[in-house]
Amino acid sequence: MDIAVVGGGPAGLYFAILMKKADPSHRIRVLERNKADDTFGFGVVFSDATIAEVEGADEETFREITRHFVHWDDIEVHYGGEVLRSTGHGFAGMSRHTLLRVLQERAAALGVELCFEHEVTDLSELAWADLVVGADGVNSTVRALLDERFMTGIDWRPNRFVWLGTGKPFPPFTFYFRRDEHGLWRVHAYQYEERDGEARSTFIVECREETWRRAGLEDATEEESAAFLERLFADELAGHRLVTNRSIWRQFPTVRTAAWSHANVVLLGDAAHTAHFSVGSGTRMGMLDAIALRDALAGRPLPEALAGYEAERRPKVESLQRAAQASLQWFEDTELYMEIEPLQFTFSLLTRSLRITHDDLRARDPAFLERVDRWFAAKAAEQSGRDVALRPPPPPMFTPFKLRDMTLENRVVVSPMCQYCARDGTVDDWHVVHLGSRAIGGAGLVMAEMTDVSPEARISVGCAGLYKDEHVPAWKRVVDFVHGRSPAKIGVQLGHAGRKGATKFLWEGGESEPLPEGAWELVAPSPIPYVPARSQTPREMTRADMDEVIGDYVRATHYALEAGFDFLEVHMAHGYLLATFISPLTNERTDGYGGALEGRMRFPLEVFDACRRAWPDERPMGVRISATDWMPGGIEAEDSVEVARLLKAHGCDVVDVSAGQTVHDQKPRYGRLFQTPFSDRIRHDVGIHTMAVGNISSWMDVNTILAAGRADLCVLARAHLFDPYWTRHAAWQQGWEMAWPDPYRSVARYTPRFEFRFTGEER
Ligand SMILES: Cc1cc2nc3c(=O)[nH]c(=O)nc-3n(C[C@H](O)[C@H](O)[C@H](O)COP(=O)(O)OP(=O)(O)OC[C@H]3O[C@@H](n4cnc5c(N)ncnc54)[C@H](O)[C@@H]3O)c2cc1C
Ligand SMILES: Cc1cc2nc3c(=O)[nH]c(=O)nc-3n(C[C@H](O)[C@H](O)[C@H](O)COP(=O)(O)O)c2cc1C
Repeated sequence: MDIAVVGGGPAGLYFAILMKKADPSHRIRVLERNKADDTFGFGVVFSDATIAEVEGADEETFREITRHFVHWDDIEVHYGGEVLRSTGHGFAGMSRHTLLRVLQERAAALGVELCFEHEVTDLSELAWADLVVGADGVNSTVRALLDERFMTGIDWRPNRFVWLGTGKPFPPFTFYFRRDEHGLWRVHAYQYEERDGEARSTFIVECREETWRRAGLEDATEEESAAFLERLFADELAGHRLVTNRSIWRQFPTVRTAAWSHANVVLLGDAAHTAHFSVGSGTRMGMLDAIALRDALAGRPLPEALAGYEAERRPKVESLQRAAQASLQWFEDTELYMEIEPLQFTFSLLTRSLRITHDDLRARDPAFLERVDRWFAAKAAEQSGRDVALRPPPPPMFTPFKLRDMTLENRVVVSPMCQYCARDGTVDDWHVVHLGSRAIGGAGLVMAEMTDVSPEARISVGCAGLYKDEHVPAWKRVVDFVHGRSPAKIGVQLGHAGRKGATKFLWEGGESEPLPEGAWELVAPSPIPYVPARSQTPREMTRADMDEVIGDYVRATHYALEAGFDFLEVHMAHGYLLATFISPLTNERTDGYGGALEGRMRFPLEVFDACRRAWPDERPMGVRISATDWMPGGIEAEDSVEVARLLKAHGCDVVDVSAGQTVHDQKPRYGRLFQTPFSDRIRHDVGIHTMAVGNISSWMDVNTILAAGRADLCVLARAHLFDPYWTRHAAWQQGWEMAWPDPYRSVARYTPRFEFRFTGEER
């Protein structure tokens, strides 16, 4: 096969090596616009785990690369006048220059034709090739020439960064956080080489756009920037100079492409996708692409091979891009974390991409983790006024948490989940068993489902209610069981379905299918149906309607108190009545209850205030919000911060941070812990307690979220449908003792085995 590789970076060269090695009869030409020894930047990083992935592909290259490695295990964080160190991270660095030289030499030795100072500007010059590989980096010409096929999306991130070098040795990977009159500066520094007894290190400086402008760096030359940063980091550099090499201030572009190939042209490495430098994976991603493309091409026709390559690599790349997004967000939001103590700050930094969990740190650096857990336990003891063991400290999820006079035994919450099996709002034995078993299952707080404040406030005819006297004893049975038979607390979520009311059950006809008969009139801030062609158009609420709804909420609050609930949550999320007031997509009012956020929040806050007045002072209240509508023009993360600020000012104790479901054509970005970043932001920006919810399913994630300060409580829904004893099982797996109810004490002498293979050694 005749192959043209455009771009002689790591991805293109490595692919050329692998293909030539796989079949020496391939004619491969690498076209590189630079000279052989030109290179921007300084070092590249690989982690121990990731370099192993390329070992088998070409052992000669692997040996040569690893021969030049500078290894380090520790990460050091300089912040708030303290230096914190965590070990066990296993990274290696090398010079990008050396990496390219190793790859060029290997490619040449195998017979790859290397053409330097050859810039490709038109694909017609590559008509000789059976396969054209666009490995020409982040600003790929190949991609641009076929952009109507590849459909590139470039997300230019707001922070500014500059890539510099220094002779200062950095035995550990080092982060500096330094504030001056212009703002906060972050440094990512690591050593990649030692030559002639002198260290060579990469020194990347990153800051917010406004910090960069305030410091006057907008018009600074490379030398002026370096001189400014040398002065700023004089203490850290200890007399070492900063070296430039095309060290211009940039913004990071996250590149995503809808397709990676067209006809005989395929993209590789940064040309197809990028991941922020703070996850240090760009070079490795390009090399893994090269391996996958080589494998896909083995014995398959070209179109099938290129499709196979993308099918193999895309999910992995997208997963890494999600991690990189979380990581870059952390560095964009670092200003928010400046109030937290150095130990928690470091833990938050180490776990920022969500790929390293609390439990991973236990394996990597048990001493560091024990310090974090002890610190967290001491804070929990102070916050709750309870004694908490410190030697050994409990896992973060098993620490108490106090809101007003309610103290929770642990930080796990059963999320409210509609059961759709009440009769005219009256709950029954199902609810006693459903909520009761989850209380026995160990969660600190069990939330009853969305419970409606009037018959017209229901989503379906099976919804639970608190709108008439007979609802109270039915709920009281549930509450008394939970209080009598478990240490759990129980809360209720008061809701009004608004325009999403009068629908069939979920399992009868999909989401929001209107009732064919017996539907009641719907009300909403504006007469906009949920699904235009299908749903009932709600009536625009009058002031009298609002007063009636407030009255319904107050009545429900009194009933909730009579039933004995410990905690009251007002449902302002998921496109129900109060949420539709908050979102500009569903509120087009012009009367003081619409318009800017203050106006849109007015009615939800009136409801909240009325409930707060009716609910005893010593009992806490929370609000569930949708932190984004996942739709342009709707609520965005920064609006939700303002929503939370207003709620705090009105005495809300905790915000339960969910997202979406406001409009039926939302475009959510699901993934593990996908809503947690909203909670993190609100908690630090507003200084209010938060609950995180959404795709939290492992106790490792719960401990990580809590210890990093991303939320005060973790709320799990489907995990609790799957396993009512989720918290107990998590305790058992972590070796944390959780007392069983008396009738179940025999479990102490039982060894759970979900799988069993006879080995002959069983007792
Ligand atoms: C500040 C910073 C720090 C980074 N740190 C790391 C790190 O620690 N670890 C890591 O793995 N990655 C890191 N990266 C990312 C890494 O540099 C890239 O992901 C990696 O180089 C991608 O390899 P590539 O071969 O796809 O593209 P590149 O390395 O960009 O190579 C593309 C090549 O194509 C050539 N070219 C471009 N257009 C043409 C054309 N029209 N004709 C001919 N030639 C052309 C270019 O000259 C270049 O040599 C970092 C990136 C930045 C910005
Ligand atoms: C069966 C079911 C019913 C739900 N009912 C409610 C509800 O009544 N109120 C609410 O705020 N969210 C409700 N949700 C959403 C969950 O509380 C939770 O926010 C969502 O499932 C994401 O959490 P998870 O990933 O842990 O499942 C429901 C979810 C499920 C699966």
